[in-house]
Amino acid sequence: MQHISKLPNVGTTIFSIMSGLAKKHNAINLSQGFPDFGSDQKLIDLVSKAMNSGYNQYAPMLGNLELREAIAKKMALLYNSSYHPENEITITAGATQAIFTIINTFVKPNDEVLIFKPAYNSYEPAVRLNGGKTIPIQLEAPNFSIDWNAVKQKVNSLTKMIIINTPHNPSGMVFSKEDMLQLQNITKGTNIIVLSDEVYEHMIYDEEKHQSACLFPDLKSRSFVVASFCKTFHNTGWRVGYCCAPKELMTMFIQVHQFNVFCVHHPTQKGIADYMQEPKHYIELSEFYQNKRDLFLSLIKDSKFNFKPSKGTYFQVLDYSAITQEHDVDFAKRMTFDFGLASIPLSVFNHNNLDNKVLRFCFAKKDDTLKQAAEILNRI
Ligand SMILES: Cc1ncc(COP(=O)(O)O)c(C=O)c1O
Repeated sequence: MQHISKLPNVGTTIFSIMSGLAKKHNAINLSQGFPDFGSDQKLIDLVSKAMNSGYNQYAPMLGNLELREAIAKKMALLYNSSYHPENEITITAGATQAIFTIINTFVKPNDEVLIFKPAYNSYEPAVRLNGGKTIPIQLEAPNFSIDWNAVKQKVNSLTKMIIINTPHNPSGMVFSKEDMLQLQNITKGTNIIVLSDEVYEHMIYDEEKHQSACLFPDLKSRSFVVASFCKTFHNTGWRVGYCCAPKELMTMFIQVHQFNVFCVHHPTQKGIADYMQEPKHYIELSEFYQNKRDLFLSLIKDSKFNFKPSKGTYFQVLDYSAITQEHDVDFAKRMTFDFGLASIPLSVFNHNNLDNKVLRFCFAKKDDTLKQAAEILNRI
């Protein structure tokens, strides 16, 4: 038999490659974005309780209603933004499924989708699978700031969607209010859908404020806000996320979602709904991660790596140009073999694999792990 792949050029992701190398060489793994500590025992107990209390059959298609109500409450509390739990919020299999289904629902052959590079690696394949074309806008280290005139020039009658991500993986940059107003102006009066990937909304530092798309009325009317409990509650393996959008958009999303997964793991949804009754469980996350960022950066302040402190996410970008001019993929691999520390080279997320000589390190790790990683970085 002979078959033609729909994604012929997609190889093994850099995350699998670097994590595999880290394992093989017994290296400290700051490459992939997941914590090396567990979830709150209270949350695990609540999920077990839900399982023992009969939450084991299909959840409603949009998700457990108590969880949707808890999300609606959170959106009101944090952003003063109203989403109806009955038809404007859907629980998904991680943010990844929300992203895939949004793109699958709206992108048709020859549609154009603007993405900002470096970009999270699921956007492009999802657009391609639907016959669409991604239009990259490259952001450059160290500031990763956006040239909105360049964005304006790329918007045309084929533009179906703009995907943004704030706080931004991998750079740790956050969109300012001014950025969001620019986006709102550019999309005003168009049919463009905005996919606002906000999975790191609760990890934002130094008095920065998360600029959710739902804070800007015209943007909100065309946006899907995508979020993830995997990131917020330290359990990337549970695969529970959600998206919020105005009813007309969500109705179309649901038409695809019902044949995509129908619904996701029910007891986990119920457990998270109960856990969210205490807002401190998500509100205190920024402080928790800012302490980790500050510890990591204070330990490497005298190293040869240069950096601007991450403003959000649990990633820190380090510039190694004062050490070597090696390609970032080569240097990341060598650092894993020779020094025992794994990271992610940024070029893999960039347009034409642009190499700015920067690596991404995940600081969602125990303090001890961060101390050991810092010792290595100080030796390089
Ligand atoms: C920017 C961004 N969006 C989406 C996701 C996917 O999140 P989830 O694990 O909930 O599918 C990630 C995970 O790393 C991410 O970094």
